[in-house]
Amino acid sequence: MSAPPESDVLQIENVPASASSPPGGVVSVWTIRRPDKLNALNAEVNSALKSACLWAEADDSVRVIIITGAAPNEPPEGKRPKPNSFAAGADISEFQGKSSEDVRPIFDDNPWDAVWDLTKPTIAMVDGFALGGGAELALSCDLRLATPRSKFGTPEINLGLIPGGGGTQRLCRLLGYGQAMEMVMGGGMIDGEEAHRIGLINHLVEADELLDKTMEIAQNLASKSPHTIRVAKAAVRAALEQPFSAGIQSERDLFCALFDTADMEIGVKAFLDRETAEWTGA
Ligand code: COA
Repeated sequence: MSAPPESDVLQIENVPASASSPPGGVVSVWTIRRPDKLNALNAEVNSALKSACLWAEADDSVRVIIITGAAPNEPPEGKRPKPNSFAAGADISEFQGKSSEDVRPIFDDNPWDAVWDLTKPTIAMVDGFALGGGAELALSCDLRLATPRSKFGTPEINLGLIPGGGGTQRLCRLLGYGQAMEMVMGGGMIDGEEAHRIGLINHLVEADELLDKTMEIAQNLASKSPHTIRVAKAAVRAALEQPFSAGIQSERDLFCALFDTADMEIGVKAFLDRETAEWTGA
C-alpha cells in the first residue's frame, strides 16, 4: 500500500482487514489529535483530512475508514482534565475578523464534503463532544457509533451562525425536519442515549467496548467485495440525491450491471458450493 499522508494533527493507523479479499486490505483509523482544544477542526486538521481522503480513495488496500478523536492528555498538576471529544466544532478562534469573502473558499473546499464523497464505507467513532463541525464530520460518515457520555449538537446559533459543513441538510435527511430544526435552531446538546433514540447514531456502546464494536463492524464491511460495496453505497446515496422513482430506476440499473461482474459470479457460486467467496474486487 502507498504511504498515508503524515500530519501532527491527524494520526493514520492502518489495521489489517483480517477477512479481506482480495487480501491485503486495511481498516484505516484516523484520529484527530488536538485534545487540548477538544479536537477542534482548525485549518491544519481540515487540510489533513482532505489529504487523507485523497489518499484513501486512491489506495485500493483501504477498505473502510474509521474517524475518531484523540483522548484527553494528562492534565498539568492542579488543573482539571479536558473533556473527551470527537471534535468540538470548527476552530472558533479562526472565525474572528473574517468576512464572507474570507470564509467562502475555506467552506467551498472542505473536509465534510471530502469525507462524504469517499466511495468507501466510513464510520465515525464518537466518545465525547461532537459539536458543530465535529457533529457535521460524524454526519458525513456512513455510520456513527457513540458512547452514552457523548454530546452531540449544532451550537452555531449561539455564535450568530448556522452549520456550514452540510449539517442542516444531512441532519434533516437523517432525522427529519422536526428534530433537525430543534437541533439547529435550539443550539442545545443531546447525549449518546438521546442520539441513539432519535437515530442520529447507529449504535450506543460503552466506552470500553467502543473500539472493539467499531472494529467488528469495519472488519465485516472490509470482508465484502470492494466493488460491490461501492455500488451498494452509491445505490443508497441515490435516495438522498434523486426523486423516489429515479432512485428505484438507479438501483435497478446498478443491480443489473452487477450481473456482468466477476464478483457476482464468484459470490453466487460460493453460496451454492457452500464455500467462502474470494472476491476479485471486479
Ligand atoms: N474552537 C476552538 N477552541 C475550542 C473549541 C472550538 N470549537 N471548543 C473548545 N475549544 C478549546 C477551548 O477554547 C479551551 O481552550 P483553552 O484551554 O486553551 O482555553 C479548550 O478547548 C477546552 O475547552 P473548554 O471550553 O475549556 O472546555 P469545557 O469543558 O469548559 O467546555 C464545551 C466544553 C464543548 C462545552 C466548550 O468548549 C464549547 O462550548 N466549545 C465550543 C463548541 C461550539 O460552539 N462548537 C461549534 C463551533 S462552529
